Amino acid sequence: MSKIKSAYFCQSCGAQSAKWVGKCPVCNEWNTYVEEVIEKEETKISSKSFSTKRESKPILLKQVERQNIERIITEDSELNRVLGGGIVPGSLILIGGEPGIGKSTLMLQLALKLSARKILYVSGEESEMQIKMRAERIAPPGDKCFIYAETNTQNILKQADALQPDLIIVDSVQTLHSSHVESPPGSVSQIRECTGEFQRFAKETNTPIFLIGHITKDGSIAGPKLLEHIVDTVLQFEGDRNYSYRILRTLKNRFGSASEIGIYEMLGDGLREVLNPSEILLTTREEQPSGIAIASMMEGMRPFLIETQALVSPAFYGTPQRSATGFDVRRLNMLLAVLEKRIGFRFGVKDVFLNIAGGIRVDDPAIDLGVVAALISSYEDIAISPNYCFTGEVGLSGEVRAVSRIEQRIAEAEKLGFKKIFISGYNGKASGSSKQKIEIVAVNKVQDLIRWIGK
Ligand code: TYD
Ligand code: MG
Repeated sequence: MSKIKSAYFCQSCGAQSAKWVGKCPVCNEWNTYVEEVIEKEETKISSKSFSTKRESKPILLKQVERQNIERIITEDSELNRVLGGGIVPGSLILIGGEPGIGKSTLMLQLALKLSARKILYVSGEESEMQIKMRAERIAPPGDKCFIYAETNTQNILKQADALQPDLIIVDSVQTLHSSHVESPPGSVSQIRECTGEFQRFAKETNTPIFLIGHITKDGSIAGPKLLEHIVDTVLQFEGDRNYSYRILRTLKNRFGSASEIGIYEMLGDGLREVLNPSEILLTTREEQPSGIAIASMMEGMRPFLIETQALVSPAFYGTPQRSATGFDVRRLNMLLAVLEKRIGFRFGVKDVFLNIAGGIRVDDPAIDLGVVAALISSYEDIAISPNYCFTGEVGLSGEVRAVSRIEQRIAEAEKLGFKKIFISGYNGKASGSSKQKIEIVAVNKVQDLIRWIGK
């Protein structure tokens, strides 16, 4: 009788244990260990022979020849950017995101528009018919786009071997199952095994593979962190489902920068690349009301301008309310305290609401100065000129601190036609190019800002 080997896996972080434990020693989650069969006896031999198939020796780094790898340049310039300049042959790319965010749409769109290449789109989630219906909304298919509804990795790889596509897309890794492992699809050992098999296929045949992965409630790619170690590149597709904007973010990239982002808009006929994000995030109005300030922020390496809206009104019921959308509410409280203490505004008796337009979440501290300007503007009920924009971090003593990449931020503001940009005095000389049309106003303290509001 063949012996079946099993082990316990944490369903949250993928840690393995020989016996059941109540609390995972790695991620400290409770009750996450589940027994999974790892491999059947007969497959063990085949996987062993696999690893010894090729013998290699250590060689000097100096002697390694650098081959010119030719990346596949997609039609999608945002995706090219996020991948560091196109798809690297033989790479395994994981794209994660919440259900319904548009991962399948993005990948199908990639397959349809790359009409010169042979593509294999494997779907374990949708039937051929459903994919066809979706494709009809997006773009006419090229002559070399193959669809395959299958979840067994051995079948998929057999077909891929026969077809020899230039690119494989697998939707999604949680639906896959390998015959070498007995646990159900979506379990840690299945995901690990299937990803490993694709990894080997990618490296041996030099075919790039995209794997789509779902994200759990806590934001990690379902099941396992361990996936992130196996693959070459991890992309995350995110956005607020109530808005049509989506951000594709690099979390890890062996072949490029890991701080790139791509921005898309979800339309009725697929995803549109947004090449100039500031334009969609700024509202154009005839007349600027009070409480609105334009701030500069960085997402990855890209600067853009965003509208911060504040509403300050008398608090009639007991404790004043503080609410912030897209901005950390504790940071808002801190900025209010600074304005109260350093300038003497009485926010203690006011309700304060803050909103970052467009459903975007901002972590960049450089947005502080814009938030402060919006707060003062609403408090005083005096509008800020629509030609002004702000960038600077505000410290506890009310000083305006220098921010990174100031030249890029100024250039972006200038490109969009702003007349004045308020920056920290400590950023000072870095930004003094004489050709600039935009006027740079240096402020060292939040107090200095007041006289500009209403001008
Ligand atoms: P989908 O790609 O199925 O998401 P995921 O694979 O990440 O689960 O996208 C689903 C959403 O996208 C769905 O709510 C409908 C919307 N959508 C559009 O708005 N326009 C389109 O052209 C397509 C194909 C989908
Ligand atoms: Mg999908």
